[in-house]
Amino acid sequence: MAEAGPAGECIEVSCFQYQSRTNNSLTPLAGSQLEDPSRNLFRWSPFSAIRTLFDHLYSHPDDATNLSAIYPHRGILKTAATIKTSSDQKFTIDLSPKRVALIPVSLQQSLAGHGLKDVLDFFNTLTTEYVPSILSTLSIIAGADFTPAHSTYNMNFRLCDYNPVTAASGSLNGCGAHTDYGTFTIIFQDGTPGLELEDANAPGSWVPVLGDATVVLTGWCAVILSGGRITAARHRVRGTPGVRRLSAVLFIAPDLDVTLRPLGGIQPIRPFSETVMRGDIDTEVFKEVMGKRWRYREGNEEMEGHEVGTQDDEIAKLIWA
Ligand SMILES: [Fe+2]
Repeated sequence: MAEAGPAGECIEVSCFQYQSRTNNSLTPLAGSQLEDPSRNLFRWSPFSAIRTLFDHLYSHPDDATNLSAIYPHRGILKTAATIKTSSDQKFTIDLSPKRVALIPVSLQQSLAGHGLKDVLDFFNTLTTEYVPSILSTLSIIAGADFTPAHSTYNMNFRLCDYNPVTAASGSLNGCGAHTDYGTFTIIFQDGTPGLELEDANAPGSWVPVLGDATVVLTGWCAVILSGGRITAARHRVRGTPGVRRLSAVLFIAPDLDVTLRPLGGIQPIRPFSETVMRGDIDTEVFKEVMGKRWRYREGNEEMEGHEVGTQDDEIAKLIWA
């Protein structure tokens, strides 16, 4: 149920949106019991540091190479959009607490003054101050405690640069339509519009989100754990040719070994597949199913022809009866 009003406000449980333009404070528009919404997350988010970090890595390829070397499997700075016209036209820096711990001290020190320290401070504060209360809110909505399934804080930090200088600079495809796989995602924007939510009552109809709103979106894992009581918001990012847009995103998913089925005590409100109800899928397997498709969309992994399809179709087939 991803209803979104004409001004972009979300009115349901698949999306919390924080209006950050009123009286320099945040007003939760709906569905939220988050603590202390008075803090101005928009002002607090470090877009100057994010811009500095991207620009530094673009202009210092040795630092970019050394940073990506901590995660050789897929790298940290993703720039497929410099050569691929059909993929999402964005660049990303993908970090996590585990990956940050792997950055050599000398590189951490050298990047600290080029935005990395402010970015990591931001995500660490966000994690401490907001993640527990969002999990509590989702628990109330679902009718079962989400906290034990998130004991390790399985998180990823992503910085996005919807940069006008890509292989398809006139493309509007900043990020293709998709639903996030995890429990929830917090999206901070730099004030530039582009994020859109699909109207669940009118699939294919997209509602723009205010450019300076901070949004919490729920994902597929929340759908499953809640027995369908929480829904997930399909979303996309549309680019504006010649306009740069930055965002900072925190993803949180259940712990990797958590079995993805409705939490104990929950009676599903929609039938799930036998695969889900038998407990055959854990977070790690689910992420692998999802990951191949999102990496294809982002241009970071090739797929065989017969494998190409939307990740949401794939997940729907997997989880629903
Ligand atoms: Fe997303």
